[in-house]
Amino acid sequence: MTPATAPLAPEARAAYFEQLYQHDADPWLVRQRWYEARKRALLLACLPQARYRNAYEPACGNGELTVALAQRCERLLAADLSSQALHAAQQRLRDEGLEHKVTLLHQRLPQDWPRTGNGAERFDLILLSEIGYYLSPEELAQVAEHASASLAPGGSIALCHWRAPFAERVQSTVRVHAAFQNRPGLHCLVRHEEPDFLLGIWSNDARSVAQREGFA
Ligand SMILES: C[S@@+](CC[C@H](N)C(=O)[O-])C[C@H]1O[C@@H](n2cnc3c(N)ncnc32)[C@H](O)[C@@H]1O
Repeated sequence: MTPATAPLAPEARAAYFEQLYQHDADPWLVRQRWYEARKRALLLACLPQARYRNAYEPACGNGELTVALAQRCERLLAADLSSQALHAAQQRLRDEGLEHKVTLLHQRLPQDWPRTGNGAERFDLILLSEIGYYLSPEELAQVAEHASASLAPGGSIALCHWRAPFAERVQSTVRVHAAFQNRPGLHCLVRHEEPDFLLGIWSNDARSVAQREGFA
Protein backbone atom coordinates (compact mmCIF):
# COMPACT_ATOMS: atom_id res chain seq x y z
CA MET A 1 0.00 0.00 0.00
CA THR A 2 1.20 3.51 -0.76
CA PRO A 3 0.97 5.54 2.43
CA ALA A 4 -0.79 8.88 2.10
CA THR A 5 1.40 11.88 2.78
CA ALA A 6 -1.24 14.59 2.77
CA PRO A 7 -4.90 15.09 3.68
CA LEU A 8 -7.05 12.89 1.47
CA ALA A 9 -8.62 14.69 -1.48
CA PRO A 10 -12.22 13.57 -2.20
CA GLU A 11 -11.23 12.14 -5.61
CA ALA A 12 -8.42 10.06 -4.06
CA ARG A 13 -10.55 8.57 -1.30
CA ALA A 14 -12.12 5.54 -2.96
CA ALA A 15 -8.83 4.25 -4.40
CA TYR A 16 -6.99 4.91 -1.14
CA PHE A 17 -9.39 2.91 1.04
CA GLU A 18 -9.82 0.15 -1.54
CA GLN A 19 -6.07 -0.32 -1.71
CA LEU A 20 -5.82 -0.29 2.06
CA TYR A 21 -8.39 -3.09 2.51
CA GLN A 22 -6.97 -5.07 -0.44
CA HIS A 23 -3.69 -5.22 1.39
CA ASP A 24 -5.21 -6.08 4.77
CA ALA A 25 -8.87 -6.73 5.73
CA ASP A 26 -8.19 -5.17 9.14
CA PRO A 27 -5.95 -2.15 8.42
CA TRP A 28 -6.50 -0.46 11.80
CA LEU A 29 -6.34 -3.75 13.76
CA VAL A 30 -9.83 -3.21 15.14
CA ARG A 31 -10.12 -7.00 15.58
CA GLN A 32 -6.89 -7.27 17.56
CA ARG A 33 -6.28 -4.21 19.71
CA TRP A 34 -7.55 -3.90 23.27
CA TYR A 35 -7.79 -0.16 22.57
CA GLU A 36 -10.40 -0.84 19.87
CA ALA A 37 -12.34 -3.46 21.88
CA ARG A 38 -12.50 -1.10 24.88
CA LYS A 39 -13.58 1.84 22.73
CA ARG A 40 -16.38 -0.23 21.15
CA ALA A 41 -17.54 -1.38 24.60
CA LEU A 42 -17.59 2.23 25.85
CA LEU A 43 -19.48 3.41 22.80
CA LEU A 44 -22.06 0.64 23.10
CA ALA A 45 -22.45 1.26 26.85
CA CYS A 46 -23.08 4.98 26.22
CA LEU A 47 -25.98 4.45 23.80
CA PRO A 48 -29.06 5.73 25.60
CA GLN A 49 -31.40 2.89 24.58
CA ALA A 50 -31.04 -0.85 25.12
CA ARG A 51 -32.58 -1.66 21.73
CA TYR A 52 -32.91 0.08 18.38
CA ARG A 53 -35.53 -0.49 15.74
CA ASN A 54 -33.69 0.85 12.68
CA ALA A 55 -30.06 1.96 12.87
CA TYR A 56 -27.65 3.34 10.26
CA GLU A 57 -23.87 3.00 10.30
CA PRO A 58 -22.24 4.76 7.35
CA ALA A 59 -18.50 4.05 6.83
CA CYS A 60 -18.82 0.73 8.64
CA GLY A 61 -15.38 -0.52 7.55
CA ASN A 62 -14.79 -4.23 8.04
CA GLY A 63 -17.90 -4.58 10.22
CA GLU A 64 -16.45 -5.11 13.67
CA LEU A 65 -18.70 -2.49 15.28
CA THR A 66 -21.51 -3.56 12.94
CA VAL A 67 -21.52 -7.05 14.48
CA ALA A 68 -21.80 -5.64 18.02
CA LEU A 69 -24.42 -3.09 16.99
CA ALA A 70 -26.55 -5.64 15.12
CA GLN A 71 -27.13 -7.45 18.40
CA ARG A 72 -28.91 -4.35 19.78
CA CYS A 73 -30.93 -3.60 16.62
CA GLU A 74 -33.91 -5.05 14.83
CA ARG A 75 -32.55 -3.70 11.56
CA LEU A 76 -29.25 -2.10 10.66
CA LEU A 77 -28.17 -0.41 7.44
CA ALA A 78 -24.37 -0.43 7.21
CA ALA A 79 -22.49 1.14 4.31
CA ASP A 80 -18.98 1.92 3.13
CA LEU A 81 -17.09 3.43 0.23
CA SER A 82 -14.88 0.38 -0.14
CA SER A 83 -16.14 -2.86 -1.72
CA GLN A 84 -13.33 -4.74 -0.01
CA ALA A 85 -14.42 -3.43 3.40
CA LEU A 86 -18.01 -4.44 2.65
CA HIS A 87 -16.85 -7.90 1.65
CA ALA A 88 -14.99 -8.26 4.97
CA ALA A 89 -18.05 -6.97 6.87
CA GLN A 90 -20.31 -9.43 5.06
CA GLN A 91 -18.02 -12.32 5.96
CA ARG A 92 -17.87 -11.23 9.61
CA LEU A 93 -21.68 -10.91 9.84
CA ARG A 94 -22.10 -14.31 8.22
CA ASP A 95 -19.68 -15.89 10.70
CA GLU A 96 -21.80 -14.49 13.55
CA GLY A 97 -25.12 -15.50 11.96
CA LEU A 98 -26.22 -11.85 11.83
CA GLU A 99 -26.45 -11.21 8.10
CA HIS A 100 -30.28 -11.37 8.13
CA LYS A 101 -30.38 -8.23 10.34
CA VAL A 102 -27.98 -6.09 8.36
CA THR A 103 -28.26 -4.55 4.90
CA LEU A 104 -24.83 -3.72 3.48
CA LEU A 105 -24.59 -0.98 0.86
CA HIS A 106 -21.88 0.65 -1.19
CA GLN A 107 -22.20 4.35 -0.35
CA ARG A 108 -20.15 7.52 -0.59
CA LEU A 109 -20.67 10.23 2.00
CA PRO A 110 -22.17 12.72 1.82
CA GLN A 111 -23.69 12.16 -1.65
CA ASP A 112 -25.29 8.79 -1.04
CA TRP A 113 -26.89 9.53 2.33
CA PRO A 114 -30.37 7.92 2.31
CA ARG A 115 -33.12 10.20 1.09
CA THR A 116 -34.48 12.63 3.70
CA GLY A 117 -37.76 14.54 3.80
CA ASN A 118 -41.41 13.53 3.74
CA GLY A 119 -41.97 9.78 3.71
CA ALA A 120 -38.24 8.98 3.86
CA GLU A 121 -36.82 6.26 6.09
CA ARG A 122 -35.96 7.44 9.63
CA PHE A 123 -33.31 5.98 11.91
CA ASP A 124 -33.43 5.81 15.71
CA LEU A 125 -29.63 5.49 15.81
CA ILE A 126 -26.99 6.90 13.45
CA LEU A 127 -23.42 5.95 14.20
CA LEU A 128 -20.43 7.83 12.75
CA SER A 129 -17.25 6.15 13.93
CA GLU A 130 -13.80 7.20 12.67
CA ILE A 131 -15.07 8.86 9.47
CA GLY A 132 -15.72 12.57 10.10
CA TYR A 133 -12.07 13.66 9.90
CA TYR A 134 -11.75 12.33 6.33
CA LEU A 135 -14.48 14.70 5.13
CA SER A 136 -14.10 18.38 4.29
CA PRO A 137 -15.92 20.87 6.55
CA GLU A 138 -18.52 21.37 3.78
CA GLU A 139 -19.07 17.61 3.40
CA LEU A 140 -19.27 17.15 7.15
CA ALA A 141 -21.83 19.98 7.40
CA GLN A 142 -23.96 18.10 4.85
CA VAL A 143 -23.59 14.88 6.84
CA ALA A 144 -24.67 16.67 10.05
CA GLU A 145 -27.65 18.18 8.20
CA HIS A 146 -28.69 14.81 6.72
CA ALA A 147 -28.19 13.02 10.05
CA SER A 148 -30.46 15.49 11.88
CA ALA A 149 -33.08 15.21 9.14
CA SER A 150 -32.97 11.38 9.13
CA LEU A 151 -33.43 10.97 12.86
CA ALA A 152 -36.63 9.35 14.10
CA PRO A 153 -38.32 11.00 17.10
CA GLY A 154 -36.27 10.10 20.19
CA GLY A 155 -33.34 9.01 18.01
CA SER A 156 -29.63 9.51 18.66
CA ILE A 157 -26.51 10.33 16.67
CA ALA A 158 -23.29 8.83 18.09
CA LEU A 159 -19.82 10.02 17.06
CA CYS A 160 -16.47 8.53 18.04
CA HIS A 161 -13.11 9.75 16.68
CA TRP A 162 -9.37 9.39 17.22
CA ARG A 163 -7.76 12.67 18.27
CA ALA A 164 -4.06 12.49 17.30
CA PRO A 165 -2.75 14.02 14.06
CA PHE A 166 -2.19 11.73 11.03
CA ALA A 167 -1.35 12.46 7.41
CA GLU A 168 -4.76 11.71 5.85
CA ARG A 169 -6.74 13.80 8.36
CA VAL A 170 -8.66 16.64 6.69
CA GLN A 171 -9.93 18.27 9.89
CA SER A 172 -9.52 17.92 13.64
CA THR A 173 -11.70 15.67 15.76
CA VAL A 174 -12.70 18.66 17.89
CA ARG A 175 -14.09 20.33 14.74
CA VAL A 176 -15.85 17.16 13.65
CA HIS A 177 -17.72 16.88 16.94
CA ALA A 178 -18.36 20.64 17.05
CA ALA A 179 -20.35 20.30 13.81
CA PHE A 180 -23.01 18.43 15.82
CA GLN A 181 -22.93 20.69 18.88
CA ASN A 182 -25.53 23.47 19.04
CA ARG A 183 -27.47 22.13 16.08
CA PRO A 184 -31.10 23.20 16.46
CA GLY A 185 -33.15 20.34 17.88
CA LEU A 186 -30.14 18.25 18.99
CA HIS A 187 -29.24 17.83 22.67
CA CYS A 188 -25.91 16.48 23.87
CA LEU A 189 -26.51 13.41 26.07
CA VAL A 190 -22.95 12.10 26.35
CA ARG A 191 -19.56 13.75 26.09
CA HIS A 192 -16.72 11.39 26.86
CA GLU A 193 -13.20 12.72 26.43
CA GLU A 194 -9.92 10.81 26.61
CA PRO A 195 -6.41 11.67 25.46
CA ASP A 196 -6.92 9.31 22.49
CA PHE A 197 -10.52 9.83 21.38
CA LEU A 198 -13.73 11.82 21.72
CA LEU A 199 -17.12 10.18 22.03
CA GLY A 200 -20.31 12.23 21.76
CA ILE A 201 -23.99 11.39 21.59
CA TRP A 202 -26.73 13.81 20.57
CA SER A 203 -30.46 13.18 20.55
CA ASN A 204 -33.60 15.01 19.47
CA ASP A 205 -35.01 13.92 22.86
CA ALA A 206 -33.45 16.03 25.65
CA ARG A 207 -34.40 13.56 28.38
CA SER A 208 -31.64 11.72 30.27
CA VAL A 209 -31.51 7.93 30.31
CA ALA A 210 -33.11 7.88 33.81
CA GLN A 211 -35.83 10.27 32.66
CA ARG A 212 -36.52 8.05 29.65
CA GLU A 213 -36.96 5.12 32.02
CA GLY A 214 -39.26 7.19 34.21
CA PHE A 215 -37.41 7.34 37.52
CA ALA A 216 -35.88 10.83 37.37
C1 LIG B 1 -11.05 4.33 9.90
S1 LIG B 1 -12.25 3.39 9.05
C2 LIG B 1 -13.55 3.27 10.27
C3 LIG B 1 -14.38 2.03 10.13
C4 LIG B 1 -15.42 1.84 11.22
N1 LIG B 1 -16.42 2.89 11.20
C5 LIG B 1 -14.76 1.77 12.58
O1 LIG B 1 -14.95 2.65 13.41
O2 LIG B 1 -14.02 0.79 12.80
C6 LIG B 1 -12.90 4.59 7.91
C7 LIG B 1 -13.88 3.98 6.93
O3 LIG B 1 -14.55 5.03 6.25
C8 LIG B 1 -14.73 4.65 4.90
N2 LIG B 1 -14.91 5.92 4.16
C9 LIG B 1 -13.99 6.89 3.99
N3 LIG B 1 -14.52 7.93 3.32
C10 LIG B 1 -15.81 7.60 3.07
C11 LIG B 1 -16.89 8.26 2.43
N4 LIG B 1 -16.74 9.48 1.89
N5 LIG B 1 -18.08 7.62 2.35
C12 LIG B 1 -18.24 6.39 2.90
N6 LIG B 1 -17.27 5.71 3.52
C13 LIG B 1 -16.06 6.31 3.61
C14 LIG B 1 -13.48 3.89 4.56
O4 LIG B 1 -13.65 3.06 3.44
C15 LIG B 1 -13.22 3.12 5.85
O5 LIG B 1 -13.83 1.86 5.83
